[in-house]
Amino acid sequence: EKGGYDHFMLKEIYEQPRSIRDCMRGRIYPNEGKVQLGGIKDYADKLKNIDRIIIVACGTSWHAGLVGEYLIEEYARIPVEVEYASEFRYRNPIISEKDIVIAISQSGETADTMAAIELAKERGATIFGICNVAGSSIPRISDAGVYTHAGPEIGVASTKAFTAQVTVLTLMAFFMAQQRGTIKESALVSLLTELDSIPDLVDKCLKADNHIIEIATALKDSSNCLFLGRGSGFPVALEGALKLKEISYIHAEGYPAAEMKHGPIALIDAEMPVIVIATRNSSYEKVISNIQEVKARKGIVIAIVTEGDKEVRKMADYVIEIPDANEAFLPLLATIPLQLLSYHIAVMRGCNVDQPRNLAKSVTVE
Ligand code: M6R
Repeated sequence: EKGGYDHFMLKEIYEQPRSIRDCMRGRIYPNEGKVQLGGIKDYADKLKNIDRIIIVACGTSWHAGLVGEYLIEEYARIPVEVEYASEFRYRNPIISEKDIVIAISQSGETADTMAAIELAKERGATIFGICNVAGSSIPRISDAGVYTHAGPEIGVASTKAFTAQVTVLTLMAFFMAQQRGTIKESALVSLLTELDSIPDLVDKCLKADNHIIEIATALKDSSNCLFLGRGSGFPVALEGALKLKEISYIHAEGYPAAEMKHGPIALIDAEMPVIVIATRNSSYEKVISNIQEVKARKGIVIAIVTEGDKEVRKMADYVIEIPDANEAFLPLLATIPLQLLSYHIAVMRGCNVDQPRNLAKSVTVE
């Protein structure tokens, strides 16, 4: 049932070109520049007039929410707040009938996320669910929603469910932008055409696996690891750090790259691997200066770069190339090598990759 892979996690990492494609099927029409989301189409008018969106989730799903914030604000120009469900539910949050709350959950059974939904519902908000498990509790208590269609995810560490959640949020952002007229049809044609090719680019990212095994060998005995990214690369850094800590038990932190100088830089020495999302996009030059700061303190830099990059290669100890793509799609690509890196490190450390200690696949208690 592991399809020839040693672990479910690896199988699920490798399934991503397919799971992302399944998630987009019947929902995008690149030639027409159209996104169709049957699950939320009845709310098209409401989406035209809302003032804000609140996203609630936990763990990896919360990271997907941060990517969603970036995309919805960028394309649909709706202010978004991303909340940990566990905090939101106990904060007497300010919500009304005007709000849309998007709950993201792979399992559809997470207790804190369900409680956050109930609270938002009581106060009149409209609830959209983004879930993977069909017929689970969250889709049932939501007003509307979009399934991720990633297929069953067995590994406790979420991989293909995350990229599917990000894919749905990308589609939602474009759908909302289309409804609100904040995007030109021609722009949508080119974005959707590129999105349509993402499964092939994810496949290319997977090809770096052997090189990643070499890097994993060099990092496997570290006790700490820092992950840095900017813009939509920041949630990717958080997700990379969570993956590493939960399956390999190496202490890892994700930070917005520019925050390094406000504290974490004090940790950097020759023992500290720093994984940096340094692809060629709007924050490229700034990330390069962050890398220089790390190297000046002898930190070990592992950089995720755009194919063909020369500048970062000169400074970094290791580089992992990913295909060039619009910044909007960076999380879908840059996440892949980080999943593989954590996986190999955990295997080398003899950890139980599919069932890490102290963790359950779905957290149905508070
Ligand atoms: O099923 P959910 O998406 O609601 O689960 C949320 C978190 O418990 C989950 O993402 C957790 O952080 C994973 N183990 C991460 O890999």
